Order: sequence, then C-alpha cells, then structure tokens
Amino acid sequence: MSLLRRKRVEDLQREALTDQSLHRALGPWNLVLLGIGAIIGAGIFVLTGKAAANYAGPAIVISFVLAGLACAFAGLCYAEFASMIPISGSAYTYSYATMGELLAWIIGWDLILEYLFAASTVASGWSEYMVSFLADFGIVIPPEWTAAPWDHKVPPDAGWNLWRVFTEGWTRTGAILNVPAMLIVGVITVLLVLGIRESATFNNIIVAVKVGVILMFLAVGIAHLNPENWQPFVPPAEGPGRFGWEGVLRAAGVIFFAYIGFDAVSTAAQEARNPQRDMPIGILGSLAICTLLYIAVAGVLTGIVKYDQLDVGAPVAVAIDTLGSGFSWLKTLIKVGALAGLSSVILVMMMGQPRIFYAMARDGLLPPLFARVHPRFRTPYWATIITGCCAMLLAGLLPIGLLGELVSIGTLLAFVIVCGGVFALRFTDPQIPRPFRVPVFWLVCPLGVFFCGWLMIGLPPDTWARLLVWMALGLCVYFLYGRRHSVLARQGANRREDAR
Ligand code: ALA
Repeated sequence: MSLLRRKRVEDLQREALTDQSLHRALGPWNLVLLGIGAIIGAGIFVLTGKAAANYAGPAIVISFVLAGLACAFAGLCYAEFASMIPISGSAYTYSYATMGELLAWIIGWDLILEYLFAASTVASGWSEYMVSFLADFGIVIPPEWTAAPWDHKVPPDAGWNLWRVFTEGWTRTGAILNVPAMLIVGVITVLLVLGIRESATFNNIIVAVKVGVILMFLAVGIAHLNPENWQPFVPPAEGPGRFGWEGVLRAAGVIFFAYIGFDAVSTAAQEARNPQRDMPIGILGSLAICTLLYIAVAGVLTGIVKYDQLDVGAPVAVAIDTLGSGFSWLKTLIKVGALAGLSSVILVMMMGQPRIFYAMARDGLLPPLFARVHPRFRTPYWATIITGCCAMLLAGLLPIGLLGELVSIGTLLAFVIVCGGVFALRFTDPQIPRPFRVPVFWLVCPLGVFFCGWLMIGLPPDTWARLLVWMALGLCVYFLYGRRHSVLARQGANRREDAR
C-alpha cells in the first residue's frame, strides 16, 4: 500500500503558497513566450518537410490539426492541474496527488525523457544549423568536431528483440565529439543558473526573432503560392503509412514532436507571480499561437514547393530556393530564426528538468542536493548544473535520431497520465477549488487519453523497448533510494508513532 501513498492536494496548495525559495518573477506574457520558446524548434524547421514528403503530402496541414487537437486536450488538462496545484514538479506532482508515489516516481523518471533528452536532441540539430550558417560566411569547423562519434540504426527486423535493439546497428561516424552542441548546452546552463528573470528575458528576445522570421516567411510565401502544388491534397496511398489517410495519421505522430513543450510552462509554476490565473494563459495561449503558425507554415511550404521535394533537413530553405536568387537574404534569415528557435527550446527544456528534480528531491525521492537553491540567484543550481552536464554528454556523444522518438513517447505517456489524473481527481476530490476547469471534462479527458495513447501505439517497437528499459532502470533507482527516503513515508511513520 505504501507505493500508493498520495500527497494531499490541500498540502500541496499550502506548500505552493508558503514556499518562497524560488523567485516569483514571471507574468502572463513571460509564460506565453516561455511556451512558444519551448514549442517552435526542430519540429517545424526540420521534421515538417520529411513528414510531407514521405507520409502526408499537402495534407500535412491536416496532420498538424490532428496532432494539435491531441495536444489541446492534454493542454486543457495541464491547465486545470497547473492552476490547482501550482508547484514546480508539473506532471510528477499531479501524479503524486492522484495516483500515488510509485506512479509519481515513474512519471518523474519519464519526464527526464521529455526534457533532458529533448534538450540534447535539439542541441544536435542546433549544431547542424550552426555549421551550415557559419559555412555561408566561409567559416568551416572540422567535421570531426561537429558530430557524434557513433550512429545507430536499429535493424528493421529487430522487433521486440531487446538484445538486438540495443547492441546491433552501431557504426562509427569518424567524428570525435559534437562540440557546438555541447557549447550551446553549456552556455544555456550558465544562464539558467544566473536567474529565472534573466533566462526569461533572453527567451523573450529569441522568441521574437524566431516568430518574426516565420511571419516574414509566411508573408513572402503567400505572395508566391502555386495552388497546383496542393494537388492532389491527399496523395493516393502507396503502401502502409505512405500517403492516403493512413499516411496523414502517421505524419501526425511524426510531427507531434513539433508541439512538445507547452507543458514545460507548468514547471515554472512556482516562479509565476499569479500562477492560478496565469498558468492556463501560458499553456493554452502558447499552444494556440503555435498551432495557428504551424498550420500556416505547413500550408505555405507545400504551396510554394511540390511536397516530394521536401525530404530534406532544411525544408524551409529549400522552399525559399524555389523563389529565385532574389530571396537569398531570406534564406540566411531563416537560418537565424531556426538557430534562435532551437536555442529557446533547449533553454526552456533545460529550465523544466531541474525544477522537476527539485520537486522530487523535496519529496525525498532524489538526494537533497537536487533541491538546493542558490542563495543569491534563487535558482535550483545544483539540479541545473547536473542537468546541463548530462545534456552535454548526450548531445556530444549520441546520434540525434536515437533520442528524438524517445522524447515523443515519454511526453505522450505523461500526457496520458495527466488527462487520466484530471478525470480521476474530479471524482476523488471534487471539493478542491479549481481556478481553471476543463470544459466537458467527461469527454475531453478520455479523448486526451485516447488520442495520445493512439499516437504512442503508432511509434515503432524499438522505441517502446527503450521506454521499457528506461522505466525498469527507474524502478531500480526508486527501490534502492526513493522508497527509503520518501518524506511522505517518514511523515506517515511519525504519525503512527505519535498515535501509539
Ligand atoms: N517542440 C520542440 C521542437 O520542435 C521540441 O523542437
């Protein structure tokens, strides 16, 4: 039964009011911009083209609507939780209040896949863009210092054979270390240690750059649309998952990555000035703005260039190439926008991770070091530095493809649990004040579970295998450390002692 011990929502609400160790510096706009900072990145600048070229064609627009819908259900549920329990642990804390300690641990461990691994994945993408940007100006970094030393491709027939998934398919790339990826993570770690306000200001500036560049692309693109490129809108099916309606669904699973990040806003709940009101604004506002931008970019991209030419790492740049040499300035700007976009994703993901570690350490499930707050900067500095070092190692050494799908599956699992948790809590604790309520929760929450669960099922077996191994590792850590040091367990034991 001890594995099911729950934190009381009332206690969490009291904790949120009394714990002033972190700096409450963020207003509603900061939160919306944090959300946009975390959302727009590698997904739109890299994945959209591949998903259109291989799965959906111009109907990638519909894929964006579908993935956006799944996120909207999850976003509404996050908004209810974040306004009710405005504490930095996000889904981890919500699970502690609804489904007990073991599940909370599992979700906390799972969120490492989302935040830490996303930061590393996006840092590898940042490195590729930086190398190409510098090359435009004649600056060439030796290639052995700009890529990971290993690449990994799972053998297509490996299926659920864990041994084969983990041991086969590794090749040496000839490179030594991805230095630019490590550098950007290092710089952002320092910024995050220095303060939440400084980090938010930096984020606001780079979000302005990336959104400005996207708007400029839209303005130029709309003037050069060729509606013939949208024919056929849903290309006829060419095999399982390739085009046709099945392809549209497959593409929705791929570009789900582009939406990841709005939930990171909830990890800043203890640094928001008025979390009850502003958390829903930050989460839902950023999601709505990005959904509109994504649908517009997908439509314009496939409207100015035929979808079958978009199977490249920089689809927006390819689209601009078709406009003629007069637009090479826009191509450089797009690279600047992409670099800004990817930087802000790394920033917000690396802001979220230490705050989850902080919440877990305060509950005793991780060593107290993770909960130390810097006396002057008022940031969880040890958790930030440890996150930064791990992200640097991952980004420097591991190939980008290996991490990307793990990020999606980890995030989807968190979404499923959050939607289920909101539903459950409406029945178990209906009396708790909820400053924001999910409308028609009996429909929205199950739909969130269904949509996100279904996107999870669409991911390949080797990604599931990695998720299961990661979770098994997490359970070992819990039973060796967390379970024995849990603050809630100690409080329960003291109460029993007093009663005797
Ligand atoms: N949504 C983020 C991106 O697309 C993770 O980079």
